[in-house]
Amino acid sequence: MATIRLGDEAPNFNAKTTEGEINFHEWLGNSWGILFSHPADYTPVCTTELGTVAKYKEEFDKRNVKVVALSVDGLESHKGWIGDINETQGTTVNFPIIADEDKKVSELYDMIHPNADSNLTVRSVFVIGDDKKVKLIITYPASTGRNFDELLRVIDSLQLTAYHKVATPANWNNGEDVVVSPAIATEDIPSMFPKGHKVIKPYLRTTPQPNLD
Ligand code: BEZ
Repeated sequence: MATIRLGDEAPNFNAKTTEGEINFHEWLGNSWGILFSHPADYTPVCTTELGTVAKYKEEFDKRNVKVVALSVDGLESHKGWIGDINETQGTTVNFPIIADEDKKVSELYDMIHPNADSNLTVRSVFVIGDDKKVKLIITYPASTGRNFDELLRVIDSLQLTAYHKVATPANWNNGEDVVVSPAIATEDIPSMFPKGHKVIKPYLRTTPQPNLD
């Protein structure tokens, strides 16, 4: 198992999922992707997480993001549990869940942390860009459900900063002012950011979010 770091190509794999066999890179196509693991089927926090992801489909679609979940449970288990998720969370699961019984993908992505649990995956999230590079890695323990609003917020930042020479400050939300990249000289800001800018310090320059009308 190699360490996966930001900027690396997301390792490719073939896997069985609730929506058929996939080759990860082919399945991603030209989309961004989220690969996220959960510890086990038929568990309470995971049930709320997968229901939440299903409800956010429109938000992921708007951002051109495909989502795939994973646990080390088998296909029959996943399929039975989807019924419970739909029933209890008032939704329809609309993304594939990988059945990683042989732990091939979990090991490839280092999703099993033996000092937390020797057999089950932790709550890993990998955001993968449309260039197949890893853009974000976050890891939560089994006891803490993820905040998927934060995930959308980060994707907004990742997609904005991939295409514009800006960075997003603490607690930034889509629509708020952003920071001009330190690599841009202050005298070049007006031509690059015609909506205006503020120089708070020579290294701290802000501008309205450039990709909004
Ligand atoms: C849960 O999803 O509720 C859960 C799974 C494994 C350990 C603890 C909680």
